[in-house]
Amino acid sequence: MPEFGTPFSVLKHDRPLTHEELVRAIRFMVAAEYEATQLYEQTAESTDNELAKKVLLDVANEEKVHAGEFLRLLKELQPDEEGFYAQGAKEVEEEFLGGEAGEAGPAAPGIGIGSLKK
Ligand SMILES: [Fe+2]
Repeated sequence: MPEFGTPFSVLKHDRPLTHEELVRAIRFMVAAEYEATQLYEQTAESTDNELAKKVLLDVANEEKVHAGEFLRLLKELQPDEEGFYAQGAKEVEEEFLGGEAGEAGPAAPGIGIGSLKK
């Protein structure tokens, strides 16, 4: 969980960010998008106001798009990180989805953006 009390704790203001600092900042931004999504969906589920529900759920979906943008940027900035995600997906497939891991990674069966839309 990111430390929202000090949202700029990874940043230095007296010089440009190093590559590693930029990568950490982008990871933090991904977490912030997920936290915003959680807040908006939880609030939508907790109110009877239909207009507020619609707006909150619409904005929550926009935050998921933002998370996708940051994850795509992270993939460009830190290409080796994708291997860790693929390893995690493979472990879930092997341990919880019948042991048929297939090809790990974004193209792995059952894992991907399309599977989340169902
Ligand atoms: Fe956002």
